[in-house]
Amino acid sequence: MRAKTKQHMFWLAIVVGAASSFTASLVWAQSATSSDPVSQYRAMFGDDNPADLWVMRGKDLWQKPRGPKNVALAKTCDLGMGTGVIKGAYAHMPRYFADTNKVQDLETRLLTCMVRDQGLDKAAILKNRFGDGDRKSDLEALSAYVVGASKGVPISLPMSHPQEKRAYAMGKALFYYRAGTHDFSCASCHGQSGKRIRLQQLPDLATANPEAQKTYTTWPAYRVSQGEVRTMEWRLGSCFRQMRFPKLKYGSEVAIDLTMFLAKNAEGGKMAAPGLKR
Ligand code: HEC
Repeated sequence: MRAKTKQHMFWLAIVVGAASSFTASLVWAQSATSSDPVSQYRAMFGDDNPADLWVMRGKDLWQKPRGPKNVALAKTCDLGMGTGVIKGAYAHMPRYFADTNKVQDLETRLLTCMVRDQGLDKAAILKNRFGDGDRKSDLEALSAYVVGASKGVPISLPMSHPQEKRAYAMGKALFYYRAGTHDFSCASCHGQSGKRIRLQQLPDLATANPEAQKTYTTWPAYRVSQGEVRTMEWRLGSCFRQMRFPKLKYGSEVAIDLTMFLAKNAEGGKMAAPGLKR
């Protein structure tokens, strides 16, 4: 009976996969044969994560003088730990920044530094926010580099400024906010442990728990199915699509507030990103 069910699931996966792209069908088929679809890729890559290429490029982007003002982010950009300091920075974000009077996540903070300090064009950076093939994203590379400098650092948020507390409260409310044609909230899919969509495990992100830690600490991540490093902004945008919500605006308060809620539930977990995901 068990084997039969498994076989049935396998063929179902193939059929579903064939209906979408070829890559997707490969992924579906692999999901069907293993509860951890990425394990086979891990076996192939060993300890190597292709994200290392993004980390290297990000290091360059961080250290080299760039833009019309010809300055290096390493000399001007404060990610919350002091100018140019990246060690541990991601583990304490999102956080309030006095110079912008805003709570920012890593991506929006990098954007602030690139536009304000280096004089780079915001629209051009945002147009390339999600890399694709040869058209690489500077934001994704910089994120991979910065986040890598938090490896092993436990997540802990300042959460002392009223705007930080507000962002958390908003993020929590947003997490449970049901809307759209399917009346989904984040909690519909991520409100309890052990849920699946088709064959994908859905982590419980609603409360402080080890699953929430494991999930949050492994983003940004190299997505095998896309061959790119993606950040939390991308991840949330992708779930908005699955929820049939309006498109999530990159760097919006909604994105940052939700990230704040997820980060808070992951407190104590040690950063292990860039991760490797399906
Ligand atoms: C309709 C179901 C659904 C809803 C609703 C949904 N998600 Fe997801 N979410 C998924 C699926 C499916 C995945 C895994 C995708 C994959 O493996 O590629 C996922 C993955 C994630 C991940 C990464 C998990 C990991 O293991 O790395 C995060 C974080 C996340 N969702 C957050 C959210 C947030 C926040 C919301 C609300 C704005 C939300 N999701 C709403 C289906 C949903």
